[in-house]
Amino acid sequence: MTAETTGSRAPAASIRATGLTLGYEGRAVVSGLDLSVSPGEILVVLGSSGCGKSTLLRAIAGLIDPLSGTLTAGDAVVDGPCADRALVFQDDALLPWRTAQRNVELPLQVGGVRRAERRRRAAEWLARVGLSTHADRLPGQLSGGMRQRVQLARALAGAPAVICMDEPFGALDAQTRVAMQQLLVEAWQASQCTVVFVTHDVSEALALGDRIVVLAKDGVRDEVRVPRPRELDSPADADLQARLTASLRAPHDIDGLAVA
Ligand SMILES: Nc1ncnc2c1ncn2[C@@H]1O[C@H](COP(=O)(O)OP(=O)(O)OP(=O)(O)O)[C@@H](O)[C@H]1O
Ligand SMILES: [Mg+2]
Repeated sequence: MTAETTGSRAPAASIRATGLTLGYEGRAVVSGLDLSVSPGEILVVLGSSGCGKSTLLRAIAGLIDPLSGTLTAGDAVVDGPCADRALVFQDDALLPWRTAQRNVELPLQVGGVRRAERRRRAAEWLARVGLSTHADRLPGQLSGGMRQRVQLARALAGAPAVICMDEPFGALDAQTRVAMQQLLVEAWQASQCTVVFVTHDVSEALALGDRIVVLAKDGVRDEVRVPRPRELDSPADADLQARLTASLRAPHDIDGLAVA
Protein backbone atom coordinates (compact mmCIF):
# COMPACT_ATOMS: atom_id res chain seq x y z
CA MET A 1 0.00 0.00 0.00
CA THR A 2 1.42 3.37 -0.96
CA ALA A 3 0.76 6.97 0.05
CA GLU A 4 -0.86 7.40 -3.37
CA THR A 5 -3.41 4.68 -2.74
CA THR A 6 -4.16 5.81 0.79
CA GLY A 7 -4.48 9.50 -0.12
CA SER A 8 -3.00 12.53 1.60
CA ARG A 9 -2.70 12.08 5.33
CA ALA A 10 -2.67 14.16 8.43
CA PRO A 11 0.43 13.33 10.54
CA ALA A 12 -0.25 10.86 13.37
CA ALA A 13 -1.22 12.58 16.59
CA SER A 14 -0.63 11.76 20.25
CA ILE A 15 -3.56 11.42 22.64
CA ARG A 16 -3.22 12.40 26.27
CA ALA A 17 -5.79 12.02 29.04
CA THR A 18 -4.94 13.62 32.38
CA GLY A 19 -7.18 13.12 35.41
CA LEU A 20 -9.97 12.46 32.95
CA THR A 21 -13.44 11.80 34.29
CA LEU A 22 -16.11 10.81 31.77
CA GLY A 23 -19.78 10.12 32.20
CA TYR A 24 -23.31 11.05 31.36
CA GLU A 25 -25.64 13.60 32.92
CA GLY A 26 -23.05 14.40 35.56
CA ARG A 27 -22.59 10.75 36.64
CA ALA A 28 -19.06 9.43 36.29
CA VAL A 29 -18.40 6.23 34.32
CA VAL A 30 -14.58 6.46 34.26
CA SER A 31 -12.83 8.54 36.92
CA GLY A 32 -9.36 10.06 37.08
CA LEU A 33 -7.96 8.36 33.99
CA ASP A 34 -4.33 9.07 33.10
CA LEU A 35 -3.42 7.60 29.73
CA SER A 36 -1.29 8.62 26.80
CA VAL A 37 -0.99 7.21 23.31
CA SER A 38 2.11 7.98 21.24
CA PRO A 39 1.83 9.17 17.64
CA GLY A 40 1.66 6.14 15.37
CA GLU A 41 1.01 3.66 18.18
CA ILE A 42 -1.73 1.02 18.25
CA LEU A 43 -3.16 1.10 21.76
CA VAL A 44 -5.65 -1.66 22.53
CA VAL A 45 -8.16 -1.09 25.32
CA LEU A 46 -9.56 -4.18 27.04
CA GLY A 47 -12.11 -4.09 29.83
CA SER A 48 -15.27 -5.68 31.09
CA SER A 49 -18.66 -4.75 29.71
CA GLY A 50 -19.79 -1.33 30.93
CA CYS A 51 -16.38 -0.18 32.22
CA GLY A 52 -16.40 2.78 29.82
CA LYS A 53 -14.44 1.69 26.74
CA SER A 54 -16.94 3.10 24.24
CA THR A 55 -17.30 6.18 26.40
CA LEU A 56 -13.54 6.75 26.21
CA LEU A 57 -13.57 6.42 22.41
CA ARG A 58 -16.52 8.82 22.15
CA ALA A 59 -14.57 11.34 24.20
CA ILE A 60 -11.45 10.97 22.00
CA ALA A 61 -13.65 11.38 18.91
CA GLY A 62 -15.03 14.56 20.48
CA LEU A 63 -18.61 13.31 20.71
CA ILE A 64 -18.87 13.83 24.49
CA ASP A 65 -17.19 16.37 26.76
CA PRO A 66 -15.20 15.32 29.85
CA LEU A 67 -16.85 15.90 33.23
CA SER A 68 -13.38 16.92 34.46
CA GLY A 69 -9.70 16.58 33.59
CA THR A 70 -8.16 17.19 30.20
CA LEU A 71 -8.00 15.33 26.93
CA THR A 72 -5.70 16.44 24.12
CA ALA A 73 -5.02 15.20 20.59
CA GLY A 74 -1.68 16.46 19.31
CA ASP A 75 -1.31 19.98 20.65
CA ALA A 76 -5.01 20.72 20.84
CA VAL A 77 -7.60 20.12 23.53
CA VAL A 78 -10.35 17.87 22.17
CA ASP A 79 -13.45 20.05 22.09
CA GLY A 80 -15.59 18.48 19.40
CA PRO A 81 -15.54 16.10 16.45
CA CYS A 82 -12.86 16.55 13.79
CA ALA A 83 -12.21 14.76 10.48
CA ASP A 84 -8.67 13.96 11.71
CA ARG A 85 -10.13 11.65 14.38
CA ALA A 86 -12.30 8.90 12.89
CA LEU A 87 -14.49 6.55 14.90
CA VAL A 88 -15.55 3.09 13.79
CA PHE A 89 -18.57 2.33 15.93
CA GLN A 90 -19.45 -0.84 17.80
CA ASP A 91 -22.91 -0.80 16.19
CA ASP A 92 -22.60 0.10 12.58
CA ALA A 93 -23.17 3.73 11.78
CA LEU A 94 -23.46 3.88 8.00
CA LEU A 95 -25.83 6.32 6.40
CA PRO A 96 -28.72 4.05 5.39
CA TRP A 97 -29.70 6.07 2.31
CA ARG A 98 -26.20 6.00 0.77
CA THR A 99 -24.78 2.98 -1.02
CA ALA A 100 -21.67 1.27 0.34
CA GLN A 101 -19.59 3.14 -2.25
CA ARG A 102 -21.10 6.52 -1.34
CA ASN A 103 -20.63 5.83 2.38
CA VAL A 104 -16.92 5.21 1.81
CA GLU A 105 -16.74 8.39 -0.29
CA LEU A 106 -18.12 10.45 2.58
CA PRO A 107 -14.89 11.46 4.39
CA LEU A 108 -13.29 12.20 1.02
CA GLN A 109 -16.24 14.41 0.09
CA VAL A 110 -15.97 16.21 3.43
CA GLY A 111 -12.24 16.62 2.75
CA GLY A 112 -12.97 18.28 -0.62
CA VAL A 113 -11.59 15.46 -2.82
CA ARG A 114 -12.95 15.76 -6.36
CA ARG A 115 -15.65 13.35 -7.52
CA ALA A 116 -13.69 11.13 -9.92
CA GLU A 117 -10.81 10.80 -7.46
CA ARG A 118 -13.02 10.00 -4.50
CA ARG A 119 -14.86 7.37 -6.55
CA ARG A 120 -11.54 5.77 -7.44
CA ARG A 121 -10.25 5.75 -3.86
CA ALA A 122 -13.53 4.51 -2.39
CA ALA A 123 -13.65 1.70 -4.97
CA GLU A 124 -10.08 0.73 -3.99
CA TRP A 125 -10.96 0.55 -0.30
CA LEU A 126 -14.08 -1.46 -0.98
CA ALA A 127 -11.95 -3.89 -3.00
CA ARG A 128 -9.53 -4.20 -0.07
CA VAL A 129 -12.32 -5.20 2.29
CA GLY A 130 -13.65 -7.64 -0.30
CA LEU A 131 -16.83 -5.77 -1.18
CA SER A 132 -16.35 -4.62 -4.78
CA THR A 133 -19.40 -6.55 -5.88
CA HIS A 134 -21.53 -4.91 -3.18
CA ALA A 135 -20.56 -1.30 -3.89
CA ASP A 136 -24.03 -0.34 -5.09
CA ARG A 137 -25.93 -1.93 -2.21
CA LEU A 138 -27.53 0.08 0.55
CA PRO A 139 -26.48 -0.77 4.14
CA GLY A 140 -29.86 -2.45 4.75
CA GLN A 141 -29.02 -4.90 1.96
CA LEU A 142 -25.72 -5.95 3.54
CA SER A 143 -25.00 -8.40 6.37
CA GLY A 144 -23.81 -7.04 9.75
CA GLY A 145 -20.25 -8.17 9.04
CA MET A 146 -20.31 -6.52 5.62
CA ARG A 147 -21.52 -3.27 7.16
CA GLN A 148 -18.60 -3.37 9.59
CA ARG A 149 -16.23 -3.85 6.66
CA VAL A 150 -17.75 -0.82 4.89
CA GLN A 151 -17.26 1.18 8.11
CA LEU A 152 -13.61 0.11 8.21
CA ALA A 153 -13.12 1.10 4.56
CA ARG A 154 -14.81 4.46 5.22
CA ALA A 155 -12.58 5.21 8.21
CA LEU A 156 -9.38 4.25 6.40
CA ALA A 157 -10.34 6.10 3.19
CA GLY A 158 -10.46 9.36 5.13
CA ALA A 159 -6.77 8.93 6.09
CA PRO A 160 -7.26 10.32 9.63
CA ALA A 161 -4.45 11.11 12.08
CA VAL A 162 -6.24 9.10 14.77
CA ILE A 163 -8.61 6.21 14.27
CA CYS A 164 -10.73 4.95 17.17
CA MET A 165 -12.20 1.51 16.67
CA ASP A 166 -14.89 0.11 18.92
CA GLU A 167 -14.95 -3.69 18.63
CA PRO A 168 -15.00 -3.29 14.85
CA PHE A 169 -14.54 -6.98 14.11
CA GLY A 170 -16.84 -8.45 16.75
CA ALA A 171 -19.53 -9.39 14.23
CA LEU A 172 -17.17 -11.09 11.78
CA ASP A 173 -16.51 -14.81 11.39
CA ALA A 174 -13.07 -15.95 12.58
CA GLN A 175 -11.50 -16.07 9.11
CA THR A 176 -12.76 -12.64 7.99
CA ARG A 177 -11.75 -11.25 11.37
CA VAL A 178 -8.12 -12.30 10.90
CA ALA A 179 -8.15 -10.90 7.34
CA MET A 180 -9.51 -7.57 8.62
CA GLN A 181 -6.89 -7.47 11.40
CA GLN A 182 -4.20 -7.96 8.75
CA LEU A 183 -5.73 -5.24 6.59
CA LEU A 184 -5.76 -2.86 9.53
CA VAL A 185 -2.10 -3.54 10.36
CA GLU A 186 -1.18 -3.10 6.68
CA ALA A 187 -3.07 0.20 6.45
CA TRP A 188 -1.56 1.33 9.75
CA GLN A 189 1.98 0.46 8.59
CA ALA A 190 1.43 2.49 5.41
CA SER A 191 -0.01 5.49 7.25
CA GLN A 192 1.46 5.25 10.77
CA CYS A 193 -1.75 6.84 12.06
CA THR A 194 -2.51 6.51 15.77
CA VAL A 195 -5.01 3.75 16.53
CA VAL A 196 -7.07 3.26 19.69
CA PHE A 197 -8.73 -0.12 19.37
CA VAL A 198 -11.30 -1.54 21.79
CA THR A 199 -11.92 -5.27 22.00
CA HIS A 200 -13.09 -7.94 24.45
CA ASP A 201 -10.79 -10.47 22.84
CA VAL A 202 -7.36 -10.96 24.45
CA SER A 203 -6.02 -12.77 21.35
CA GLU A 204 -7.09 -9.90 19.13
CA ALA A 205 -5.46 -7.45 21.54
CA LEU A 206 -2.19 -9.39 21.37
CA ALA A 207 -2.34 -9.65 17.58
CA LEU A 208 -2.80 -5.89 17.11
CA GLY A 209 -1.54 -3.81 20.02
CA ASP A 210 1.83 -2.16 20.52
CA ARG A 211 0.49 -1.65 24.02
CA ILE A 212 -2.55 -3.07 25.74
CA VAL A 213 -4.33 -1.49 28.69
CA VAL A 214 -7.05 -2.99 30.84
CA LEU A 215 -9.52 -0.23 31.65
CA ALA A 216 -11.50 -0.10 34.89
CA LYS A 217 -13.85 2.49 36.32
CA ASP A 218 -11.04 4.14 38.26
CA GLY A 219 -8.45 4.14 35.48
CA VAL A 220 -5.93 1.74 33.95
CA ARG A 221 -5.80 -1.55 35.88
CA ASP A 222 -3.00 -3.22 33.91
CA GLU A 223 -0.74 -2.40 30.99
CA VAL A 224 1.56 -4.49 28.78
CA ARG A 225 3.78 -3.72 25.81
CA VAL A 226 4.00 -6.19 22.95
CA PRO A 227 7.13 -5.99 20.77
CA ARG A 228 6.94 -6.32 16.99
CA PRO A 229 7.34 -8.59 15.10
CA ARG A 230 4.75 -10.69 16.91
CA GLU A 231 5.59 -14.08 18.26
CA LEU A 232 2.08 -15.46 18.35
CA ASP A 233 1.70 -18.81 20.14
CA SER A 234 5.14 -18.41 21.81
CA PRO A 235 5.61 -18.97 25.59
CA ALA A 236 5.88 -15.17 26.03
CA ASP A 237 2.58 -14.75 24.19
CA ALA A 238 0.95 -17.37 26.42
CA ASP A 239 2.23 -15.52 29.53
CA LEU A 240 0.76 -12.23 28.32
CA GLN A 241 -2.49 -13.98 27.42
CA ALA A 242 -2.73 -15.41 30.95
CA ARG A 243 -1.86 -12.12 32.60
CA LEU A 244 -4.40 -10.09 30.63
CA THR A 245 -7.11 -12.69 31.11
CA ALA A 246 -6.46 -12.57 34.88
CA SER A 247 -6.59 -8.75 34.86
CA LEU A 248 -9.91 -8.85 33.06
CA ARG A 249 -11.25 -11.29 35.62
CA ALA A 250 -10.12 -9.32 38.67
CA PRO A 251 -13.04 -8.50 41.01
CA HIS A 252 -15.13 -5.78 39.47
CA ASP A 253 -18.60 -4.70 38.56
CA ILE A 254 -19.89 -5.67 35.14
CA ASP A 255 -22.36 -2.90 34.43
CA GLY A 256 -23.96 -3.12 37.87
CA LEU A 257 -23.51 -6.87 38.39
CA ALA A 258 -21.23 -7.52 41.37
CA VAL A 259 -18.73 -10.18 40.26
CA ALA A 260 -16.32 -11.80 42.68
N1 LIG B 1 -25.70 7.69 26.34
C1 LIG B 1 -25.59 7.24 27.59
N2 LIG B 1 -26.31 7.80 28.59
C2 LIG B 1 -26.20 7.36 29.87
N3 LIG B 1 -25.38 6.36 30.25
C3 LIG B 1 -24.65 5.76 29.30
C4 LIG B 1 -24.72 6.17 27.91
N4 LIG B 1 -23.87 5.39 27.20
C5 LIG B 1 -23.30 4.53 28.08
N5 LIG B 1 -23.77 4.75 29.33
C6 LIG B 1 -23.37 4.04 30.56
O1 LIG B 1 -21.97 4.22 30.73
C7 LIG B 1 -21.36 3.02 31.19
C8 LIG B 1 -20.23 2.66 30.26
O2 LIG B 1 -20.76 2.38 28.98
P1 LIG B 1 -19.83 2.04 27.75
O3 LIG B 1 -20.73 1.88 26.58
O4 LIG B 1 -18.74 3.04 27.67
O5 LIG B 1 -19.20 0.63 28.21
P2 LIG B 1 -18.26 -0.38 27.41
O6 LIG B 1 -17.04 -0.58 28.24
O7 LIG B 1 -18.08 0.10 26.02
O8 LIG B 1 -19.14 -1.71 27.44
P3 LIG B 1 -19.29 -2.88 26.34
O9 LIG B 1 -18.05 -3.71 26.46
O10 LIG B 1 -20.49 -3.62 26.81
O11 LIG B 1 -19.46 -2.25 25.00
C9 LIG B 1 -22.48 1.98 31.28
O12 LIG B 1 -22.90 1.91 32.61
C10 LIG B 1 -23.56 2.54 30.41
O13 LIG B 1 -24.83 2.16 30.90
MG1 LIG C 1 -18.73 -0.61 24.17
